[in-house]
Amino acid sequence: MRSVIDITDLSVSEIDGLMDTAVDIIAHPDDYAETCRRKKLATLFFEPSTRTRLSFEAAMYELGGNVLSVTGAATSSAAKGESVADTAKTVSCYADIIAMRHPKEGAAYVAAKNAAIPVINAGDGGHSHPTQTLADLLTIYRERGSLENVTVGLCGDLKFGRTVHSLIEAMSRYSGVRFVLISPEELKLPSYVKKDVLQRQGIPYEQTTDLEAALPGLDILYMTRVQRERFFNEEDYLRLKDSYILTPRKLQRAGKDLRILHPLPRVNEISVAVDEDPRAAYFKQVMNGKYMRMALILMLLKEAGRL
Ligand code: NCD
Repeated sequence: MRSVIDITDLSVSEIDGLMDTAVDIIAHPDDYAETCRRKKLATLFFEPSTRTRLSFEAAMYELGGNVLSVTGAATSSAAKGESVADTAKTVSCYADIIAMRHPKEGAAYVAAKNAAIPVINAGDGGHSHPTQTLADLLTIYRERGSLENVTVGLCGDLKFGRTVHSLIEAMSRYSGVRFVLISPEELKLPSYVKKDVLQRQGIPYEQTTDLEAALPGLDILYMTRVQRERFFNEEDYLRLKDSYILTPRKLQRAGKDLRILHPLPRVNEISVAVDEDPRAAYFKQVMNGKYMRMALILMLLKEAGRL
């Protein structure tokens, strides 16, 4: 059974196909309005979420399907000690496809191994978040016309930020991509991403703590929140949480074609005054996430022989 746990579970040509489908959905939404009639998506979210869960659910409704949902471990049998494996087997009896978010790295993988239906990883701990990456890729593609020859600055919590890890894995497969990794020393990109993805493939990157100095050279600036829930102590979080705050003044140093992305939720990293800047693309990114999730649900249900 085909599931999507990491972004590399999708080939570059499949991602290009998903983007084509998303663009077609945007142009002809009515053509898709009945495609998933009588099909059910189960959203199993054992960690907080607004955008990811609602965009999956909106996606399924816009495809004419239905949604079953678990929100929060406290209200499901996880609170009684049920394993992820048993939950996945159970939900396979009710639904056609699962989107799952869990605080433990690898939880979606375990679910996929045990489910009889496709599982989409909607975020597993600090590991990965492939459907956010699909939203990011469509945003970069629609804003720039291409995913090639782009300098991507990633700023903030590069250690725990799962969206960063997945985006690096995805963008590394396009030609002419380079990265500027902007973070405090304590929140640098984990070595498994640096070694296994960037160095292994010879992708050019630099590391810095200085956002302002990096700004003029960037095509994309991907801001992220410091991931409070993954810290071992509150003191460290409080010390690091406001390391970077993007303001209109700082943006004066950036090029006019820069695009600013953020997976959201934002805490303090981007001042609200930046929202008016034509380079701000983070709310477009939210919308793109819904279309890419529609495209992915369609692809996986077709492959599973359920459509
Ligand atoms: C991200 C996540 O959950 O990893 N949010 C999202 O899904 N858009 C980013 C974050 O929580 O900081």
